[in-house]
Amino acid sequence: MKIYTDFLVLGSGIAGLSYALKVAEYGSVTLISKAELRETNTCYAQGGIAAVMYDPDDHEKHIADTINAGSGINNPDIVRMVVEEGPAEIQQLINWGVDFDKTDDGKYDLAREGGHTEYRILHHKDITGREIQYRLTDQLLKKKNITILENHFALDIITQHHLGKEVKRNHKDTECYGAYILDLKTREIKTVLAKKTMIATGGIGSVYQTTTNPTVATGDGIAMVYRAKGMIENMEFMQFHPTSLFDPNTRPSFLISEAMRGYGAILKNRKGEDFMPKYDKRGSLAPRDIVARAIDHELKIHGDDFVYLDVTHKDAEKTKTHFPNIYRKCLEKGIDITKELIPVVPAAHYACGGIKVNIDGQSTINHLYAAGEAASTGLHGANRLASNSLLEGIVFANRAAKHSSIDLNSIEHKEDIPDWDKSGTTYPEERVLITQTYKEMQMILNSYVGIVRSDLRLDRALHRLEIIYNETEELYKKSTLLQSLCELRNMINVGYLIIKMAKARKESCGLHYTLDYPKKEGK
Ligand code: FAD
Ligand code: SIN
Repeated sequence: MKIYTDFLVLGSGIAGLSYALKVAEYGSVTLISKAELRETNTCYAQGGIAAVMYDPDDHEKHIADTINAGSGINNPDIVRMVVEEGPAEIQQLINWGVDFDKTDDGKYDLAREGGHTEYRILHHKDITGREIQYRLTDQLLKKKNITILENHFALDIITQHHLGKEVKRNHKDTECYGAYILDLKTREIKTVLAKKTMIATGGIGSVYQTTTNPTVATGDGIAMVYRAKGMIENMEFMQFHPTSLFDPNTRPSFLISEAMRGYGAILKNRKGEDFMPKYDKRGSLAPRDIVARAIDHELKIHGDDFVYLDVTHKDAEKTKTHFPNIYRKCLEKGIDITKELIPVVPAAHYACGGIKVNIDGQSTINHLYAAGEAASTGLHGANRLASNSLLEGIVFANRAAKHSSIDLNSIEHKEDIPDWDKSGTTYPEERVLITQTYKEMQMILNSYVGIVRSDLRLDRALHRLEIIYNETEELYKKSTLLQSLCELRNMINVGYLIIKMAKARKESCGLHYTLDYPKKEGK
């Protein structure tokens, strides 16, 4: 079956939804989500969205904080653009109905998180992502020219390169014409032909054993673009959030928002010591890479499984008002956070790298865009500043929407695209192999490619990953129709990219810390 659309959007988080809402002004849109529309990383976001709102904050401070958190390897033009265009996109969210909390004087109630020198985080209690996801979805459902395909899984993008030329990454000879999409209910594979394709498939947390990300975060978009020979970069910069609730039996790990540390909560070790000042003068509010590494070190030297976050010294009623979701969730687990310490551990949280895009969200493949967590824009450098991700998603979706509509009318749909050839493929008999390989892959990444790395650990990871890569490719050749197998294959691809890029970086910088090169190059 062939479907023709002007814009194909893969993903229904902040990036996909806001791009779809904007390009719907210019043509027909088909939006794909592999689960239900609302099952996204966006929906889980807690702390909020960073933007300069009032004095004494200003653009220069937000720029400096972003670059400081990113270890200075951010793209300064991109940082400036995002910070300067951010407030208009916040207004766009408000126009779409997003309700950010206000104080009694009618101003927005701004919070603070690690690495921010000013209060600049707009939020909706501690469920900001859910508020954004629901309000944008409300808008989407009103649009007549957007076709929504939930429970549809994008298998691969459709690309062609000019014949006779060797295909290299980072060249502009490859064109994208849409994607092959598996209907998860009927098992039919649809050929969706689009003039412009947007990859907004989100994060990669599922590659790790412990993560704050929902299970949809399997890096599919990044793997698809890699297979199509698009450029992927900065994958070594995997961010671990310092404070996820210690609860080994629950996946994803429940996040204890950094906004709680911005509110005054303090990290303590088992002896009750406020250990962070030993590592950084900003204490519990240092940037995430520093805090996660400090916790990792404390756990190793004391042989503990978790550290504590202490918010008991704050006013109990205020704590409940500011963090109703966290209060309720912890209470369900038997912890009253107004009276008891919260056991926390770092967990894989956010991919700073991804599909390389330019200032307009264009990837290195023609007519293919990327935005949100799947993209690498240059904003984050070696470590993302808290709450800059939702901001990046909406700013780049807007940029890409403008850019991709410019030449729309001069583009024809590609007609001679063959349908997906599924002859000879069957369901694998031993599905248990997929689940076991999934666990092996997560163990490899957690054990050897976590917060602290070394050449030996990375070599070991690569060696072990190669074995499961070969086994999985064999399985895939016979049975492409299984979502779990396709995701496993994508995650192994992503794991490979993290290891390969980590091996190539012979220094410690931001989120990439290696025992063999403990300093930043030139320091
Ligand atoms: P997502 O919101 O993850 O959406 C991805 C979409 O792609 C989903 O619809 C998914 O179904 C779809 N998809 C994926 N693969 C396929 C496929 N093969 N076929 C079809 N569809 C596919 N950032 C902040 O700035 N502030 C915060 O307070 C904050 N808190 C966070 C808290 C948590 C617990 C987590 C996990 C993240 C948090 N982040 C926060 C990060 C931020 O939420 C994400 O980076 C951001 O929401 C990503 O948005 P996105 O649109 O790129 O992708
Ligand atoms: C949080 O609320 O701590 C998450 C913020 C983020 O990931 O930006």
